This record gives sequence, C-alpha cells and structure tokens, in this order.
Amino acid sequence: MLDKFNREINYLRVSITDRCNLHCRYCRPKEGISLQGHDDILRYEEIIRVVSVAVKMGLVKVRVTGGEPLVRRGCVDFLSRLKKIEGLQDISLTTNGILLEEFAQKIFDAGISRINISLDSLNRDKYSHITNGGDLDAVLRGIARAEEVGFSPIKINTVVIKGFNDDEALDFVRLALDKPFQVRFIELMRVGQQTNLDDVGDYMPTSQLIDRIKKKYELEPIKNKKKRFDGPARIFKIKGGRGEIGFINPVSDHFCSTCNRLRLTSDGKLRVCLLNEKEVDLKKALRENCSDEELEGLFREAVLLKPKQHDLICTENTLKKCRHMSAIGG
Ligand code: GTP
Ligand code: 5AD
Repeated sequence: MLDKFNREINYLRVSITDRCNLHCRYCRPKEGISLQGHDDILRYEEIIRVVSVAVKMGLVKVRVTGGEPLVRRGCVDFLSRLKKIEGLQDISLTTNGILLEEFAQKIFDAGISRINISLDSLNRDKYSHITNGGDLDAVLRGIARAEEVGFSPIKINTVVIKGFNDDEALDFVRLALDKPFQVRFIELMRVGQQTNLDDVGDYMPTSQLIDRIKKKYELEPIKNKKKRFDGPARIFKIKGGRGEIGFINPVSDHFCSTCNRLRLTSDGKLRVCLLNEKEVDLKKALRENCSDEELEGLFREAVLLKPKQHDLICTENTLKKCRHMSAIGG
C-alpha cells in the first residue's frame, strides 16, 4: 500500500477498547468521556477479518492498543487468533502494565513475544497522581513478570512532562542500565480539549533530556536492525548498560516522512494519522455485509488520505479538535 507521498503503509495499530483502568491526565479530559457501548465497538471477528484483508494488501505489523487492551474480555484469545493470520510478521501489544502480572504468561503463550509498557514515574505518589490513582507496584510486578516469562524486547514508554517527571530522567536511564529494557522518552502531545494537565506540567523537547543524560552517561546510537518493524524511536545504547534508551519526538522533530501506519479505532474507523481527524468508516461497511474487495477499497481510500505531515508541528500548539488519545491508542 503506497500513499501519495510514496510511503509504504504496512503497519496497523488496532485499538480494541476505549476503556481503561487508569485515567492518565494527558490522555483523558477532566470531565471524563462518554465511553463507547458494546455495539459501537468492533467485534473481535470483525477485527480479524479487517486485518486478514489488510495482510493481503501488504500489512505485516500490528500493534494492539486501547484504552487498555487487557481490560477487554477475550483479549488473549484474540491475540492468539491474530497470531494465526498467515503473512502477519510482527504482533505486539501496548499496555499500562496494571494487569500484566496476571496476563504476561498467557499473552506469551498466545505467541506474542514483545510488549510495550507505559510508565511515567518511578515514584509511587507521582505515578498515582498522573494516572489518577494507579498502583505503581502493580506495574513493576507486571514488568518483572514479563521479564521472567521471556518477553523481548520489553519497551518502557515514558511521556516526558516538564516540571513533573523530567527530574526522573536519570532514574529511568538507570532502569535501562540494570535491566535489558528499552526505555523510550516520548514528547508530550497536547491533544483533545482540556486534557487534565494544567496542574501537572508541560511539553519539553527530548533534546533537553539528551543533553542532561549525556553529562552523566556515554550514549552510542544504534542503527535499527530490523528497520521494517521498528517504530519511530531513535535508540541509544548506554555504555556498560544492559538495556537501551530511545527518544520519540513527534513534536520537535516529527517522523512523518517515514510514517508507515494506519490506525483502527475501537469503533471501527480507519484513522489516517494520529493527529489528523480524517477517518474512513469500516464498521458501517462491515455491518452492511461488504465484500473483501470493498474493504480493500476502503483501505486504499484511507492510504490516499494520509497527509504529508501531522498538525502538531508547532510546539506551543494544542490540537483542540482531535479525538482523545484514549480513543485512538496513542
Ligand atoms: P515499536 O514498534 O515497538 O517501536 O512501537 P511504537 O513506538 O510504534 O508504538 P508505541 O505504542 O510504543 O508508541 C510509542 C509512542 O510513539 C506513543 O506516544 C505514540 O503515540 C507515538 N507514536 C507512535 N506512532 C505515531 C505516529 O504515527 N505519529 C505520532 N505523532 N506519534 C506516534
Ligand atoms: N503524548 C505523548 N504520548 C502519549 N501517549 C498517550 N497519550 C500521549 C500524549 N498525549 C503514549 C502512552 C503510551 C503510548 C501508546 O502513547 O504513554 O505509552
């Protein structure tokens, strides 16, 4: 699937629910959101059909996201069905880790061997604050369990919020020194009306963190080995460390020219870019018993709608008219 800018689109991020057992302040608005109902969201068999059709068109990588994917009943069974789709070469999951202690072995047994875990603070109180009540120890137990079970790589996603967790950067680097994890610092994207961040902190470019980290540690850039499957992070080895650190700069140095992805929202829309409101409705077509050829046509339409770059290229911007992250899956 080639878009208008000659980018090969081979990666689909699939949000299976907009529900989450946390309420991270950058992800959801203050006043809460109205959640999608049972009939609004795609059934697992509908998602499997969509992915199977896309694989025939060149899709090779799927990431399952939410909300929090592990809160949707039947998630593990769904993962094992995804795993059986011939031609799909890379399947992974992004989770907040709260339920991971319980699910790690089951997910691994379903054939998924790599996982990304969101973790914005290593301090119990701060973690609870940013997630609105989340239990840091549960996540740390989940990460430990994932390591025991044999996931590799284990990637930790840390959204950098100036004045809130930028002071923990070196603690996160130490985590990647001691453990075989890839810790990725992600620039905060201010999207959706009134996310609940006013009392927390603000955007900070990761370049500032890199300077700070380099004062203490020697960083060696790593060329992505499996370029085809790697996401947008710039990755470094820390001299003498077991793991790696990475930086994802969607705002200060966007990676749109190498974008290879579409997103499937839990309510069945193909979203052409994280930060652009254009969507193609698959659910309607699916529920009107469309043919596989019609689904293929909708994929082609979405691919051709992909913009050259996203709409959040000014660092001071908030993208007001945008679905909340919790409904897109990051
Ligand atoms: P890997 O395949 O393991 O490298 O994963 P990934 O980085 O593609 O996925 P993950 O779910 O871990 O996302 C990490 C961060 O990158 C999240 O904050 C995403 O929102 C951000 N991100 C991923 N894709 C895009 C994109 O297309 N545009 C923008 N602006 N940000 C993105
Ligand atoms: N800015 C940056 N990253 C975000 N994520 C969710 N919302 C935002 C945001 N506003 C990250 C999560 C998760 C990944 C899928 O997206 O922390 O790790």
